[in-house]
Amino acid sequence: MNSPWWREAVTYQIYPRSFADADGDGTGDLAGITSRLDYLADLGVDAIWLSPFYPSPQYDYGYDVSDARDVDPVFGTLEDAEALLKEAHELGLKVIIDLIPNHTSSSHPWFIDALAAGPGSPERDRYLFRDGRGPNGDEPPTNWRSVFGQPAWTRVSDGQWYLHMFDREEPDLNWRHPEVIEEFRSVLRWWLDRGVDGFRVDVAHGLVKALRDQRVPEGGEPNSDPAVMYEIGVDDDPMWDHPDVHEIYRDWHKVVSSYPGERMLIAEAWTRAPGDLRGYLRADEFEQAFNFRWLQSHWSAREFTDAIVSTLEALNPSRAWPTWVLSNHDAMRHRTRYGDGAQALARARAATLMMLALPGAAYLYQGEELGLPHVQLPPEHQLDPWAEGGNGRDGCRVPLPWSGEAPPFGFGPGDGQPWLPQPYQWADLTVAAQTGRPGSTLEFYRSALAARRRYAHGDKEVKFLDVPKDVIAFRRGRLTVVINCGATPTPLPRGDVLICSGEPLASELPPDTAAWLLSDE
Ligand code: BGC
Repeated sequence: MNSPWWREAVTYQIYPRSFADADGDGTGDLAGITSRLDYLADLGVDAIWLSPFYPSPQYDYGYDVSDARDVDPVFGTLEDAEALLKEAHELGLKVIIDLIPNHTSSSHPWFIDALAAGPGSPERDRYLFRDGRGPNGDEPPTNWRSVFGQPAWTRVSDGQWYLHMFDREEPDLNWRHPEVIEEFRSVLRWWLDRGVDGFRVDVAHGLVKALRDQRVPEGGEPNSDPAVMYEIGVDDDPMWDHPDVHEIYRDWHKVVSSYPGERMLIAEAWTRAPGDLRGYLRADEFEQAFNFRWLQSHWSAREFTDAIVSTLEALNPSRAWPTWVLSNHDAMRHRTRYGDGAQALARARAATLMMLALPGAAYLYQGEELGLPHVQLPPEHQLDPWAEGGNGRDGCRVPLPWSGEAPPFGFGPGDGQPWLPQPYQWADLTVAAQTGRPGSTLEFYRSALAARRRYAHGDKEVKFLDVPKDVIAFRRGRLTVVINCGATPTPLPRGDVLICSGEPLASELPPDTAAWLLSDE
């Protein structure tokens, strides 16, 4: 691995509920993950990122944390976390964990104390409690909507309101409070002492707010999604990207870099343009920030080019290297974003191959190496509190199929069914079914990751080639990378084909396919 390890690492995101279940209760756990780490080492990734496994009532599947220094019994014990870290390190895998500083769970002792202590108390001051507006205080303090679509304020029995930018069971912390600041320093140290290599910081753009109304045009509705506001011509997000968030990260940077080894912080910061990420990537803040441009793109050469060019241009003048991601636990799987059936799978593989050639770090989401589609679950299995139009994030969180002919496909021991149902058609997509099968998506990922390790690193520069409209081609060092998003075959640039996302080819690249070629110049 190059130094620092994270710069061009491939990190595999594990959603612990849905990766592997060692104790057979239908929910994945840390011991399950540990038992499958050799699969990940063999796949060829450099690091894993674990979505939260802390004690939590699980309203938002663990992003509602009630104790950031322990493990929820559903996922195991602190000893299981330590065993996982040890085993991962022995296999040469780095471990990044999720840190959730914007809010706690409503079951966190601090919030329970805040409710009991009443208005004006120091306990309330750790959160964002305010009196309401209007003659009886029964109008919320601001007009904000939460990310999950409900009002962002909930009123408690004594009449005050508290802010929650996500679920009502996830009260937002007051980041102007010294105890909040000290608590998170201490949580960072707690896990750094146990050997974690990095933290993925949840909602990094949201910790400090300007508590005033969001401006909306006449007749318009407030919305916490800046993209929606932008479409209606409003550039006013008092809940996001407050300049004072950076002081927090400068402080954390000091904590993290005081530890030996190359520990790191990666921001989940939803900014409007990639250039806005630069603030988070200053030398004394985050090492990396997620760049969601590609994850938000449809199958389109124009959109992909925009995502690549705007990212590279935005970050080029800075020391930072980009990151790339196509799927995660909050989004529709990229295979399904690109359509249906075999064509969508071909496109997903092609996009992955192109992404893996770009300079910077790549983040993979569990199951994409199996070509899993997003599952349309029946209403009784849609459990996500963020259920946009009845279609929440559960569809990308269906437990992985490991082996066998029928659910639970080796997810756990025995026949016990997992917390979300797996489609029967997944028999053909299990790890066991795809291992060693020529042309399978799993073998394709293995080859692509091996080729990346060998040929796609070091060079930050990307040179675009002149190609037909629905095609993108670029050179990076000795590598030429080409993707065909059009409907007809396109001539291959010069060079020896190293790897192709689809059928082997002669001199042309079929539609929905990408290839890497190697040349001497
Ligand atoms: C996480 C989500 C979570 C939200 C609230 C996000 O950005 O990725 O899964 O629901 O933060 O913590």
